[in-house]
Amino acid sequence: MATITSKTIFIQKLISNFAGPTPLKRVESLINAVSVRRFADKKVSSIKSAVIKEFNQPLIIETSENSVPLKKGQVRIGVHCCAVNVADHLLWTGLSETKPKLPFVAGFEISGEILEVAPKAEHSADSESEDEDELRVGDRVLALNKVHLGGFSSECIVDYKDVFPIPPSINYKTAAALADSYGTAMLGLARRARVQQNEVVLITAAAGGLGLAAVDIAANVYKTKVIGICGTEDKSTLVREKGAWTAFSFRNDKIVKGEVDKISEGKGVDVVFEAVGGEVFKSALECVRAEGKVIVAGFTSRDMTQLTLADIIQLPSFSLIGVSLFNYRNKMLPVYRRTILDVIDLCDQGMISPVIAEVFPLDNVNDALHSISQKKTTGKVILEIVPF
Ligand SMILES: NC(=O)c1ccc[n+]([C@@H]2O[C@H](COP(=O)([O-])OP(=O)(O)OC[C@H]3O[C@@H](n4cnc5c(N)ncnc54)[C@H](OP(=O)(O)O)[C@@H]3O)[C@@H](O)[C@H]2O)c1
Repeated sequence: MATITSKTIFIQKLISNFAGPTPLKRVESLINAVSVRRFADKKVSSIKSAVIKEFNQPLIIETSENSVPLKKGQVRIGVHCCAVNVADHLLWTGLSETKPKLPFVAGFEISGEILEVAPKAEHSADSESEDEDELRVGDRVLALNKVHLGGFSSECIVDYKDVFPIPPSINYKTAAALADSYGTAMLGLARRARVQQNEVVLITAAAGGLGLAAVDIAANVYKTKVIGICGTEDKSTLVREKGAWTAFSFRNDKIVKGEVDKISEGKGVDVVFEAVGGEVFKSALECVRAEGKVIVAGFTSRDMTQLTLADIIQLPSFSLIGVSLFNYRNKMLPVYRRTILDVIDLCDQGMISPVIAEVFPLDNVNDALHSISQKKTTGKVILEIVPF
């Protein structure tokens, strides 16, 4: 556990990280040109994967002896754990905006050990990053593999820029539960909304994977007063235990403005962190104070509420902030990498800790997907792949 002093220094470092871009360095220094197949001396067994052969049909467990060769700038990871996210469920149903060609292996939020590092990629405009960690065979890492997917497998190929070393204090289950939700929460709350101590932050679906991460960052790192809203009283208890100032449930799928007003003494909240959409989003807008900020981080309900220009003018003046970790990866790589590295540091120092709802072996991947679809999970659902 870190001391108060080191925590204070760390927060100051975080604030300066989020205050603006630092000088960029080329990612070439990141890339280890050595390509080593560890399999040669380790007798690795066959690759086991959970394959989506048809949308909405049970995934099939398959084994294969053949690894796909790496391209420049790629890393092969022996996967220990992979989170099962709403986005994986959408891919499986075929309702996702991106539809991979069948058959495919889903899963993008992984942790594991590096098995192979390909030679470095040619320089490209977006391959600039401020961190200089070199990846080597045997390193313990986490990775966000939204480009190639493939995490529901004992082996996975990832772009170098999506791989982050983890310290010994972080176990593989925790590592697989960390980057996507905490990275998104950090970008929304710290970089974009610039939350301040004692501000009031309203978080919807606060007992979900993303919601609990937002509660953790807002309450325990930035010391704001969190109002968590979720589906049931049981979930509210968990949200309070995570550090929320208060938590209560939706009524008829809406936030009751009167309850928020009571807590904020009629002023409204400084910041809303929203990832449900539909009626929840609309009712959240009624709770924000004049000149407050509304962060939109998702729309789990799939109800893409329409806001008209008239709505924006007639509602109390607020700033609407969209946040997507993947967009940062594609448009602002150094910020993306810095954010995930900060999240890893915060976890290493014991300042944040993801809540893991359930852990399933790879063979039970269909139960894990079912669990996600039930809206009952509180925190992250993890597949444990190695040892299998
Ligand atoms: N922007 C990004 O980079 C980013 C990163 C991570 C996640 N996300 C997005 O954020 C959203 C939440 O992700 P998550 O990982 O927190 O999901 P999750 O763990 O499954 O939690 C979602 C929660 O939303 C609540 N909910 C309210 N209305 C719902 C409805 N109509 N259908 C389903 N759930 C409903 C449920 O909690 P209650 O029962 O308590 O209401 C549910 O448990 C998703 O859309 C995800 O894609 C975005």
